[in-house]
Amino acid sequence: MTPVSDLDSQKRQAALRATDYVTAGMVVGLGTGTTAKHLIVALGERVQAGLKIQAVPTSHDTAALARQSGIPLIESHSAWTIDVAIDGADQVDPHFNLVKGGGGALLKEKIVAAAAKRFVVMVDHTKLVPALGGSFPLPIEVVSFGWGSTARHIERVSGGAAVLRERSGAVFQTEAGHVILDLHMSKIDDPARLEIELNQIPGIVETGLFIGRTSILIVGHAQGVDVTAAPES
Ligand code: A5P
Repeated sequence: MTPVSDLDSQKRQAALRATDYVTAGMVVGLGTGTTAKHLIVALGERVQAGLKIQAVPTSHDTAALARQSGIPLIESHSAWTIDVAIDGADQVDPHFNLVKGGGGALLKEKIVAAAAKRFVVMVDHTKLVPALGGSFPLPIEVVSFGWGSTARHIERVSGGAAVLRERSGAVFQTEAGHVILDLHMSKIDDPARLEIELNQIPGIVETGLFIGRTSILIVGHAQGVDVTAAPES
């Protein structure tokens, strides 16, 4: 198994390469997670060296680190024009479809990715999988009202097991005040179809499936960084 410190260095290398997609005057969507932290620190250094950008954060943690790094944030919640959104992922399949939401920020992350002209995904190599699912459950943000019934509905549709996310013995709450069901499936055979089916279920706010959204994939390996444009869908 690759030591965590090596994986962190691969995340950092991928994040440094991702900064190549940011140029002066851009509005940048900033993802959430350990890889995004490397990105924010690197972008902050460029801002302090004179790069003029503005950013839209996908979580309170990201906003705090961006402020601390000197990156100007767009605080308005009105319509943005985001030039590029850059984020990590929990799993990436061969079609560059993603599972996201391990940190619980999937709702804002998906809104920002959907509003961006380009979506750059940066991961260490362990995130690449032949098929989504399996070792990593699919996070699904649901309203807390009736979450148990919503979970049963999700299980009927998917054939998986939906588990309410807890942290330190308490129910995990998202920034929007919802809860997360982690859906365990041995394999997600058809992610696009599953996303459509899940979106029909009342109570689901958003799923962690990011289908056909990736523009550029940056993967950190022990030997360096691979950059690939997403295959045509
Ligand atoms: C946050 O909710 C997630 O979607 C993260 O983007 C994802 O979990 C990747 O996180 P790391 O960069 O920490 O692996």
